[in-house]
Amino acid sequence: MPIHIPEEKLSEIRNTANITDIISERVVLKKAGKDHVGLCPFHSEKTPSFTVSPAKQIFHCFGCGAGGDVFSFLMKHEGINFFEAVQSLARRYGIALPEQNMSVSQKKAVSLRQQLFDLNRQVMSYYAGQLAGRSSGQKCRTYLEKRGFSQEIIMQFGLGFAPDGWDNLVRFFRKLNISKALAESTGLVVPRENSGFYDRFRNRVMFPIFDVTNQIIGFGGRVFDDSKPKYLNSPETPIYHKSRSLYGAQAAKNKARETGCVYIVEGYFDLLALHQHGVTNTVATLGTSLTAEHISVLRRGFAQKAFLVFDSDEAGLKAARRSIPLFMNAAMDAAVIVLPKGYDPDSFIFEFGRGAFEKESENAVGMVEFLIEFSIKSNGLSMEGKVRVIADLQQPLLEIKDNVARSIYVKYLSERLSVDENAIIEKIKSGKKRLNQVLPNNWLKHNNDEPSLSENDLLIESEMIRVEKQIVSMMLKSPEILPEIKKRRVLDYFSDKRLIEIANIVLKHPIYADEDLPGLMNRFESLDHRNMIASLAISEGCRDLNICEQLLSQFMNGIQRRQSTLVSQIKSAQESNDEELLFELLRKKQEQSVNRLR
Ligand code: UTP
Ligand code: MN
Repeated sequence: MPIHIPEEKLSEIRNTANITDIISERVVLKKAGKDHVGLCPFHSEKTPSFTVSPAKQIFHCFGCGAGGDVFSFLMKHEGINFFEAVQSLARRYGIALPEQNMSVSQKKAVSLRQQLFDLNRQVMSYYAGQLAGRSSGQKCRTYLEKRGFSQEIIMQFGLGFAPDGWDNLVRFFRKLNISKALAESTGLVVPRENSGFYDRFRNRVMFPIFDVTNQIIGFGGRVFDDSKPKYLNSPETPIYHKSRSLYGAQAAKNKARETGCVYIVEGYFDLLALHQHGVTNTVATLGTSLTAEHISVLRRGFAQKAFLVFDSDEAGLKAARRSIPLFMNAAMDAAVIVLPKGYDPDSFIFEFGRGAFEKESENAVGMVEFLIEFSIKSNGLSMEGKVRVIADLQQPLLEIKDNVARSIYVKYLSERLSVDENAIIEKIKSGKKRLNQVLPNNWLKHNNDEPSLSENDLLIESEMIRVEKQIVSMMLKSPEILPEIKKRRVLDYFSDKRLIEIANIVLKHPIYADEDLPGLMNRFESLDHRNMIASLAISEGCRDLNICEQLLSQFMNGIQRRQSTLVSQIKSAQESNDEELLFELLRKKQEQSVNRLR
């Protein structure tokens, strides 16, 4: 559907919204002659080949070939269509669009995103009003005061208060005449079983979540007591993606660019505390672990170096293990700060102040060094200890693709343990087949020469169920993957009956918040099912949409491979007249198609 916006209008917008300004909100640009260059946001690179020409009002990447004007940039970067890109800039710069050129559906399409941004802003004001309200907000004001937060920081971050009760926001939406569909898309109200909605956030301190351009994409909320869940976040919406969004990004960007480094903390209040004490180059993840997308956003748009701040060795260790390859791939330096026992960034900076915090960052060590030293600390330097240290480091070192970097770490390890470098290298290589991917490389590989259904098949069977569990766990944690599951008919290929039943219910009743889980469990009488749900909900489910999709693809590919192997096995059993095997294989094949019909 072509949209007829006159070229004059487009160029008016293009000229007002300078392409360099728009792009540099998202990518750090350096002046190079009359152009600007930076790291391309559309492919992975370590040296800048992404060029923006203010004169031509275009961008171009010499690495991947991406290019276009400010509209194409936004379309590609935000994943929006041309009209949305035009509209968002026009609105931002107060340029009126000729409405007569739009069809009804275009006028409507305007918007879901824009309407959500607008509505979120109204909701922020609503919550802020409740916080300021003389009686209603008293409890929340006292709470924030007790935690030491200043009026300035509360205002700057737009904090608010979601009053107790099931329909405060619902009624606010009604007053604004918000359509049901739009209300539901905000994720702030949840459909009731029968009809109507209830407020997702009740009796909580509210934190609006901004993107780098200061639009409100979602909310987080904290309870005042020990009730659970302590924190609740907006579910994924068309404008809110946990795996990409960072709390405080809008307030951290400038200082991060100035200083070349950015602190990454885990909590809302940790972030606010650091900002209040002047450590304003701080962002926070939003109840997820750091993803490749977060790192990419930070590396291109914020700084070269990251400090991950943790309140315990365990947390730091887990994060370091997981994110080393992510930082390496993005060519981002990363160091780990572990605060003294019992402190989190919030309590630490309130007690010891900014100077002490910055001192901690001077002592921070790189991630690999952190892993090595931690392992030495816990295993010791006895002979057995050294063997365990090397075993501990095998996996992380294996994941480092950069040969130079890897050899530097191996050397460090060798010196630290006084163990021959070559011996360490041998050991690392020996772990190659255990490389930790979403799925093991060979998880459904069949041996075609040996059509036997014995052990091998059992192994595959249990491997399949393991993957099926991963998928259902992902469905519980990332409801945005559900349409894909439906589309690809993934469940048709499941083998475990219990998982199929659970997954089918999840498809009908997605889990948007932890508090929806009990409801899901209650749909099952069998304890078995309930246990399974709990274990799936607690396990480390994948929350990164890309990885989720990868997992699905690998599963479906595995199924295909398995089916074609079965067919060829049947053929060869027919040829060799092995009736027993043939019977067994045919039974298996039938089983698979029965599953599919179910
Ligand atoms: P913590 O439980 O460590 O709390 O969660 P905190 O940040 O120190 O919070 P206070 O000081 O008790 O208020 C760290 C972060 O993990 C996410 C939130 O982003 C939180 O800030 N989280 C935690 C959730 O998303 N949900 C939860 O139920 C708990
Ligand atoms: Mn805390």
